[in-house]
Amino acid sequence: MYKIAVLISGGGTNLQAIIDNIENGKLNCSIEAVIADNPKATGIQRAASRSIDTYILNRKELGDTLSDEVLKILDKKVDLIVLAGFLSILNGKLLKRFKNRIINIHPSLIPSFCGNGMYGIKVHEAAIDYGVKVSGCTVHMVDEGTDTGPILFQKTVQVTSEDSAKDLQNRILFEEHLALSEAIKKFSEGKILVIDRKVIIEE
Ligand code: GAR
Repeated sequence: MYKIAVLISGGGTNLQAIIDNIENGKLNCSIEAVIADNPKATGIQRAASRSIDTYILNRKELGDTLSDEVLKILDKKVDLIVLAGFLSILNGKLLKRFKNRIINIHPSLIPSFCGNGMYGIKVHEAAIDYGVKVSGCTVHMVDEGTDTGPILFQKTVQVTSEDSAKDLQNRILFEEHLALSEAIKKFSEGKILVIDRKVIIEE
C-alpha cells in the first residue's frame, strides 16, 4: 500500500478531500500521519476522528529545527509527503531524504502570487488587486525555495469583476481538492517522472 503523510496548518479541507477520496476508493493509499505545525490547526481533528496518527510540532517553539522533527517522524515510514495548507518552510536533510517526494498545493497559478508571505486569502487579494482574469491552483514539488519547485498540475478558474477575494478563494479551493488527489494518485501509480524542471506524467 502506498503510504503518505499530510502536513497542515489550518482547517484542513484539503486533508478532508484526501480522506474522502481514500474512503470512496478513488485513491489507493493510506495516510500514516498528519502533522500540524501549530496547536490551533483545527484540521487535526479530521485525522484524529479517523484514528490516523497525529502530531503537533509547534513552529514557534521549534523554529528552523521543525524539518528535522518531521524527518524523525516520517523517515522510512511514508512514500510521499503532502503539504496541504502547510505554512512552514521546510529545509535541510528532510528535503534531501525526500527529494521529489514532497508536494505542495498553492492557491494561485505559479509563478504568479506566490513566494514568501503569500498564503491563504492574501494570495486571492493580490490576484483581485492585480485584476487578473484567470487564477487557479498549482501542485508542485517542494525544493529549497518557496513555491519554486517543478510544477505537476495546474487548474484554472475564471475571475470576474464582481469577485471578492473570498469568492475566488472558494472557487479555487474546490479545484485544489481535485488537483491534490489527482497528483497523489499519479504518484501512487508510479506515473510521475521528474527531469530537472519538467514533470512528465504518464496517462
Ligand atoms: C489552501 O487554499 C492552500 O492552497 C493554501 O492554504 C489553504 C489551506 O486550506 N496554502 C497556501 O497558501 C500555501 N502557500 P485547507 O486548510 O482548508 O486545506
